[in-house]
Amino acid sequence: MYLLRATDISHSFDYELFSNLSLSLKTKEKIAITGVSGSGKSTFLHILATLLKPTKGDVNILSKDIASLNMKQLNSMRSKEIGIIFQAHYLFKGFSALENVKVVSILSGTDLDEQLFKKLNISHVMNNKISNLSGGQQQRVSIARVLTKKPAIIFADEPTGNLDAKTANELMDIFDDYIIKNNAGFIIVTHDDSIANKCDKIFHLENKELNRVK
Ligand SMILES: Nc1ncnc2c1ncn2[C@@H]1O[C@H](COP(=O)(O)OP(=O)(O)OP(=O)(O)O)[C@@H](O)[C@H]1O
Ligand SMILES: [Mg+2]
Repeated sequence: MYLLRATDISHSFDYELFSNLSLSLKTKEKIAITGVSGSGKSTFLHILATLLKPTKGDVNILSKDIASLNMKQLNSMRSKEIGIIFQAHYLFKGFSALENVKVVSILSGTDLDEQLFKKLNISHVMNNKISNLSGGQQQRVSIARVLTKKPAIIFADEPTGNLDAKTANELMDIFDDYIIKNNAGFIIVTHDDSIANKCDKIFHLENKELNRVK
């Protein structure tokens, strides 16, 4: 079953960034998108994650055409089915790590998962304020927050950027475990070839085109 199908996606800001990109994501599948800085990876990911309307083309998520949804339906899809890990993470700085995750569990009616905090190696800092955590710890709290929501599709923009190789690999195992257990899918933008290679498929964005390289 397809979780996501994007067809002939084009986008322009003041110039054409890319044109006719197509990509499909199946249940339990992990896809990596690579490309040089400025090639449009984040822009494409934002389009796939419904945050940005493409200049041309269609995005279909869980058999729904995104362009045909009204604001209420779109917000419902974003809050229940879509989990996004941004290049810059947006945690509430004045709150503790635990409070940041609790907000999501309350909003989406899911349980807190102590095992997940343990796996992410953040159990011991859950009561600390975000501003007192390291960059890598903050990144892992933002990942705990996204997984707590139990989304069908996880979109991640360089989630391993602040992490050492060992922690980054462990993190990929956590995503792997999550998508298998929850019949979910995963799309990651990364500069790191070893991380990309842990995915089922790799696409390279270059010269406005998306080419499959694995
Ligand atoms: N809102 C915007 N308005 C105008 N131009 C934009 C906007 N967002 C991105 N751009 C431009 O589009 C191009 C692609 O940006 P994007 O962030 O998608 O690149 P990227 O491949 O993710 O790069 P990086 O690897 O550095 O994160 C850049 O030249 C950027 O300046
Ligand atoms: Mg980017």
